[in-house]
Amino acid sequence: MNLLLRDKVAVVTGGANGIGKATAGLFAEEGARIAIADRDSSALRETVNKLRKVTDDAIGVAVDVSSEIEVSQFVASTMAKFGRIDVLVNCVGISLQGSVVDTPLALWNRVLAVNLTSAFLMCRAVVPIMSANRRGSIINVASIQALVGFDGNAAYATSKAGLIGLTRQVAVEYAGAGIRANVLSPGGVDVRGKVERISRLEPAFADALGPSDRPRDESAPARSALRTAGSPFQIASSALFLASDLSSYVTGHNLVVDGGWTAWLGIPG
Ligand SMILES: NC(=O)c1ccc[n+]([C@@H]2O[C@H](COP(=O)([O-])OP(=O)(O)OC[C@H]3O[C@@H](n4cnc5c(N)ncnc54)[C@H](O)[C@@H]3O)[C@@H](O)[C@H]2O)c1
Repeated sequence: MNLLLRDKVAVVTGGANGIGKATAGLFAEEGARIAIADRDSSALRETVNKLRKVTDDAIGVAVDVSSEIEVSQFVASTMAKFGRIDVLVNCVGISLQGSVVDTPLALWNRVLAVNLTSAFLMCRAVVPIMSANRRGSIINVASIQALVGFDGNAAYATSKAGLIGLTRQVAVEYAGAGIRANVLSPGGVDVRGKVERISRLEPAFADALGPSDRPRDESAPARSALRTAGSPFQIASSALFLASDLSSYVTGHNLVVDGGWTAWLGIPG
């Protein structure tokens, strides 16, 4: 069978839940060996157990990807296990609410650290490995909030816009080393338990989860031109395109996967 990621090693941050979990699962079905970095240890165990039904080559490491030391230990343990890294998906993300004026500095710093600095740390650790092999594909998962404003989400939107700049830098600086780097920007995706998850992982910011999380998620179906929220699989399948040789001439691109949300000026209702 012609598998799209046969024998490739794929690293997925935030791969224990939601979009990252679906991505790790799809990549494994397409022949990849998988290393997941995620802070949610119990979900991580469950996800790796599931992956092992598809492949013997799956590891999960409990890591806070905003930590420089933990990232370098994770990458070292992935190299010790698999000896190479071909694909990196930076999928970790947290959303904490606050308009520009209402955002405490600690919240701003935490969101930027988890959503943006983590991707920088991962790229910095993985690019030399990919360069040595003269090939690699990096996918940074942003959001349509990198492109359009949404009230009360200043730190999140800024972190996601920053991912576009980081990705462009990697794409132009390391194209000569055979590395492609792209952004994947989902719209509204049906991921359950996210608000509870963030409140568990980031108890210091429980107040910033805000009731506005839920209406936003619930409005996704009405807001997209396709009139439905996306599924994690629909985002994962776009990640598969960017990870595989199907996209061999695509780099520095932001692939928006939003059911036409940002294409549509219609009024939901
Ligand atoms: N769900 C959506 O509607 C949507 C829309 C646009 C963009 N996104 C982006 O997609 C990505 C995945 O989101 P999701 O909806 O699947 O959410 P999710 O909460 O299901 O997945 C995020 C994962 O990141 C992990 N994580 C959080 N902080 C971490 C840290 N410091 N270190 C390591 N792991 C950490 C969580 O444990 C979780 O497994 C995020 O970057 C998110 O911003 C999601």
